[in-house]
Parts: sequence; C-alpha cells; structure tokens
Amino acid sequence: MDDLRDKYLAAIANAGDESTLEGLRVQAVGKKGEISLKMRELGKMTPEERQVMGPKLNALKDEINSALAAKKQALSDAALDERLRAEWLDVTLPARSRRMGTIHPVSQVTEEVTAIFADMGFAVAEGPQVESDWHNFDALNIPGHHPARAEMDTFYMHRAEGDNRPPHVLRTHTSPVQIRSMEAQGAPIRVICPGRVYRADYDQTHTPMFHQVEGLAIDKDISMANLKWVLEEFCRAFFEVDGVELRFRASHFPFTEPSAEVDIRCSWADGTLKIGEGDDWLEILGSGMVHPKVLMAGNIDPAAWQGFAFGMGIDRIAMLKYGIPDLRAFFDSDLRWLRHYGFASLDQPTLHGGLSR
Ligand code: PHE
Repeated sequence: MDDLRDKYLAAIANAGDESTLEGLRVQAVGKKGEISLKMRELGKMTPEERQVMGPKLNALKDEINSALAAKKQALSDAALDERLRAEWLDVTLPARSRRMGTIHPVSQVTEEVTAIFADMGFAVAEGPQVESDWHNFDALNIPGHHPARAEMDTFYMHRAEGDNRPPHVLRTHTSPVQIRSMEAQGAPIRVICPGRVYRADYDQTHTPMFHQVEGLAIDKDISMANLKWVLEEFCRAFFEVDGVELRFRASHFPFTEPSAEVDIRCSWADGTLKIGEGDDWLEILGSGMVHPKVLMAGNIDPAAWQGFAFGMGIDRIAMLKYGIPDLRAFFDSDLRWLRHYGFASLDQPTLHGGLSR
C-alpha cells in the first residue's frame, strides 16, 4: 500500500496539465482503478484482516483524492496567472493616434463656419438637394426665361414621358433654403444653411458637386451695415488673421437688391496665398438685401420686414484658408490626400478652444 501511495503521489505532483491529472484519477480511484479494485478485495478477507485493511484503504483513497484536488487547483491557478500575464494591458497608455482616420476639410470648415455664426446667434437650417424648380428659381425671382437658369448649368431630374409637371433639379445653390426657412418659421429669421449644391462644371476650381453656406437674417431694421459687420466679423474669425480686409463690389443677383460681391485682400508671393495683405483681391461670396419679391414668395410682408442674405463657397474658403490648390482632389477619396489635408478626428472646432488646431 505504501508503494501505491508513493507512486500516485509522485505522479500527481509531476502532472503538467489537467488531462494527465484526470488520467491518474481514473487509474487510481476510478471505477476500475487500482485502489478501487483493492477495496473490492476486502470482501474476500477475514473480518480481522478487513478491520485493519478497510480503514487503511479508505485513508489512502482520501489522501489520493485530496492530492488530486489540490493539484487541480494549483494547475488552474497557474493557468490563470499565465493568462493574466499574457493579456496584461496598461490602460493608462496614451491612445494610438490616427486610428480613426481624419476629418475632411469640407467637414472641418463647415464646423468652423457653424461655430462662428452660432456665436452670432445664427441657427442651422437645411433643405433638400433634389429641389423643386420653383424653390430653386421662381421663388428667388428667377423666372423661366431668365438667363441665370442657363448660366447655372443646371442638372434636371428625369420626368416620365407625358408627365408635364415642372421638373425637379439638383439645387444649384443653397438659396432655396432661404425660401424654405421663410415658409417654415416666418419672420424674424437668423439662419445659415450649409450643404451640397450641383452645377455641370469641371476644372481646377469647379466640380459638379460642391458646397455652399447660405446666410439669411430677416428682422425689422436690417440694413447693409448689418450685413457688412457680420461678414467682416466672420472673416476675421474664420481666417484667424487680424488684418482681414474686405471689399464690397456692386453686383447683381435676381434675389437681392442691392447686391454686392465680396472680395478679400490677399497676396500671391512665391505662389503661396496669404490672406490679409498684398495687392490682390479674391472673390469669396455673393450677398445683398433680400429682394421684396423673394420675401413675398416666402409669405413675408416686405412692407414690415427686410433682411440680408449671402452665399459663400465652403470648398473655396477651405482652399483659401488651408492652401489647397485643386478642388477636384477634394472628392477623389485619395487616402494620401485625406491624411495630408485632414484634421484630427477628436478636435472639434470651437471659438474658445481654437478653430483649426
Ligand atoms: N446664390 C448665389 C450663388 O450661388 C449667392 C448668393 C446668395 C448671392 C445669397 C446673394 C445672396 O452664386
């Protein structure tokens, strides 16, 4: 019995994994195990022999069983320790950068523009990209025969043969959102409307889809002076240059009267553009006082209310601010370009935290 004991205790101590241990258990105390067979032999013994052997065998069986249980616990503790070591993770390490991609300059600039105008009390309004001919043109004082329709290289939506309703268009500017805002909320209004617009045009500074932001302020005493202040305030904040200088140039839009295009002072020294200095001027937006016919189309009484509106190219001011030479690359989805011109995904532009850091 001592041999049996030594043999099994040594084997259990040396077992390297749970399946070896299980094998030993079956071999020793399983149904047909060595010790179990010995216990069956008790029946053939004399009562005297049995009185000696019975307790001894039971004690041996208990000893083997507890050795098995202790070893099993030790093996699983060791396995857990090993796993904890292998899967150790330092949650205080800084996050890996760049893993979430980058923010596209158009998104970045839209956020910047929104932050600046929000600070001046403008809400954000949106309208559909597939727009009714009426909202895109007629309501903005551009009747059917008007040359502006042809100038804008409009994309028309297909209508089924025999359907003679006026066509829908891919909106050619964000100005129809002026009308939709007037219809939806009436006067007074202070909104900006950023979004996609479409024109059939393609070269270094034109793509068939691009982005504009419309501005619209309607109230009781709005004048060109308010327009000028708002735009100057915007440009100073947006370009992050103190000496920004704007030039208002008389112009014409069917939906504003009077109308002005706005240029920004810049220089082109060594092929790089600098905002706020130099002898060149770059056009950045169209603007004016909302035409009375447009107010009427939006169910607003032009005798009681007036307002200003402007429309600015988001892609264009992104190119200017961040020195991006070719507009077409904006929409190529080239990862190298996105990594170069993109913005860190966790930095939201705010006026207090910095717009473009
Ligand atoms: N919608 C005009 C454009 O796309 C811009 C504009 C908007 C001009 C509002 C005046 C007022 O060119």
